[in-house]
Amino acid sequence: MRFQAIEMSVHNFNSGPSILPQPVLEQAAKAIHDFNGTGLSILEIGHRTSHFQSVLDSAIGSVKRLMQLDDQYEVLFLHGGATTQFMQVPMNLLDQGETAAYCDNGIWGNKAYKEAALFGNAVLASSSADRSHTYIPKDLNIPANTKYLHITTNNTVEGTQWHNYPNVEIPLIGDMSSDIFSREVDFKKFSLIYAGAQKNMGAAGVNMLVIKKDILGKIQRKIPTIMSYQKHIEAGSLMNTPPVFAVYVSMLTLQWIEQEGGLAEMGKRSQERADLLYNTIDSLPLFQAKVAKEDRSQMNTVFFIEDESLQNLFLDQCKQAGFVGVKGYRTVGGIRVSMYNALPMSSVKAMTDLMQDFAKQHG
Ligand SMILES: Cc1ncc(COP(=O)(O)O)c(C=O)c1O
Repeated sequence: MRFQAIEMSVHNFNSGPSILPQPVLEQAAKAIHDFNGTGLSILEIGHRTSHFQSVLDSAIGSVKRLMQLDDQYEVLFLHGGATTQFMQVPMNLLDQGETAAYCDNGIWGNKAYKEAALFGNAVLASSSADRSHTYIPKDLNIPANTKYLHITTNNTVEGTQWHNYPNVEIPLIGDMSSDIFSREVDFKKFSLIYAGAQKNMGAAGVNMLVIKKDILGKIQRKIPTIMSYQKHIEAGSLMNTPPVFAVYVSMLTLQWIEQEGGLAEMGKRSQERADLLYNTIDSLPLFQAKVAKEDRSQMNTVFFIEDESLQNLFLDQCKQAGFVGVKGYRTVGGIRVSMYNALPMSSVKAMTDLMQDFAKQHG
């Protein structure tokens, strides 16, 4: 009942942690009281039990099916947010003196680049800082002997998204935190993918990683055990106590994605949501989206009202209408509407209706 009441009064446009599917919340709530009829809460089961092993196996199975991965790839569920991976990727793949290339297309990619510089020679393959990260440069400058190229597939803060991944001869690494499992893409273009779970995939506290095994074992550095991808693979994501509940919520969300029709269906829904919102912005001169059209994100739409007092009034009205999480990121400002997999079309419609009314009064 509580969930129904919340659903009726709130439209959740949070950028992450963010909206999760209703059946996932209901199942997770049940499992807190009694996990699969065991008489134990999901919070109380041991991680080295067959109960948890089946959760982990199911989650990994869903990831492999959704991404169509073969045995060259391993799937891990590890502690921490994507920020941990900014450090863990170069620690595992880059020796001092070696070069790694990064695309600086937003705040998160830039943070990843700065962390890599602690471990080796990090260079920028591209940067869109010249236009406040409102586009994605396609021409990349990758020096000879570069170990890997790192991209952020969706820039959550700035509202840009790669719609065609770069073709490179070296391993491609993707931070997919904010568009993982939102559409069909060629995941096999990547040698390593990581994503914090708390947007399209579950609850905060766990990272999902997909690693092509042939990129490992190529550096001299001694890696602390808990940071070593190889050791985590050998331990089957059970080197130490994993975030059991967060993995469970990921498993439920992955099952929901499969039951709803998989990535083709998620992609169709994302496109419909994005079309409605961007078409509304483009039809109303009061609102401006500054991102290059070809690079617009289907997950996070960032737009502005030039007159700041009007923009604040619009944000107030959003609040009164029960729209949650629409204030732009602190470094960007404006309005940000995040539309992850679980967001119903009715929420986007509620937003665009308010925009139409607001433009009639103030446009
Ligand atoms: C694309 C991207 N990468 C990394 C992060 C950082 O994630 P975390 O807070 O889980 O470390 C975020 C957070 O929103 C993100 O959107």
